[in-house]
Amino acid sequence: MIPAADSRAADDKIISIHDLKFIYPGGVQALSGVSLDIRRGEYVAIVGGNGSGKTTLAKNIMGLLRPTSGTVLVNGTAVAGQRIASIAHIVGYAFQNPDHQLFCSTVWEEVRFGPQNLGYPADDMDARVEHALRSMDLMSVKARPPFSLTLSERRRVSIASVIAMDPEVLIFDEPTTGLDMRESEALMASIARLNSEGKTVILITHDMKLVAKHAKRVVVMSEGKVILDSDPAGVFSDLEVLLASKLMPPPVVRLAYRLSTRGVPRDVLSPEELVLRIMMARGDFR
Ligand SMILES: Nc1ncnc2c1ncn2[C@@H]1O[C@H](COP(=O)(O)OP(=O)(O)O)[C@@H](O)[C@H]1O
Ligand SMILES: [Mg+2]
Repeated sequence: MIPAADSRAADDKIISIHDLKFIYPGGVQALSGVSLDIRRGEYVAIVGGNGSGKTTLAKNIMGLLRPTSGTVLVNGTAVAGQRIASIAHIVGYAFQNPDHQLFCSTVWEEVRFGPQNLGYPADDMDARVEHALRSMDLMSVKARPPFSLTLSERRRVSIASVIAMDPEVLIFDEPTTGLDMRESEALMASIARLNSEGKTVILITHDMKLVAKHAKRVVVMSEGKVILDSDPAGVFSDLEVLLASKLMPPPVVRLAYRLSTRGVPRDVLSPEELVLRIMMARGDFR
């Protein structure tokens, strides 16, 4: 049966955060009133300097931390008061440090742990695990202990174990840290594919090159607050926001800034676009 139109429309927001504050037990205020809605199918980057509250926000969405005040709704239901397992059906979180997530003796068992723990049916468990391993290109290491793998492989195992639970929303916390360029690009391509297959993607990063290339929406955090919510071009053309958030724009954007006195706009996102804009500024097309 097709769901009633009003239930779909009202529920377009898969995550809805209102005036979220979080103070760690030691007294550090990590979130100072975050409000943010994320719709189904979006690809959102959450960016901000070290300590701006990105990981704390992700952990509040997952129910791993409980708000000091304010609300987090996942799929229309408040996270507070729910068991972490019921949120894990909807939202998957790949930890900033994969080693905080891995503890089984083989990659296969590691990836099976989540869906088994959530009580998913046994009859398609092998297919589920295999699908997750294939999507992260890990079949060749399925019998190995996670701790014997490279950082890039361990990170992919931590992501595969989230994918195996088939949540609607995937949160990747600094997924490319410590990876080389080729490994990062392969991982980002996998994340883009998951989004095109319908997953809502939240990418936490301070790598502005990734943001310029992949995100359609960028939420900038600074000192526990959202200071801008815009498309990537809007973020890169706002020098004040970049300075406040201690973020370094990608090289191509920095070059565009330098050329802006010569009529090149600042909201350039790729080398190809920069060349085009320089040619336009020179009047090559007149
Ligand atoms: N477990 C913790 N206990 C106390 N303070 C913490 C803890 N984790 C993070 N913080 C503090 O909370 C603030 C936000 O941290 P975090 O959410 O990790 O930021 P980000 O992920 O953007 O780097 C920082 O000031 C950080 O030092
Ligand atoms: Mg963090």
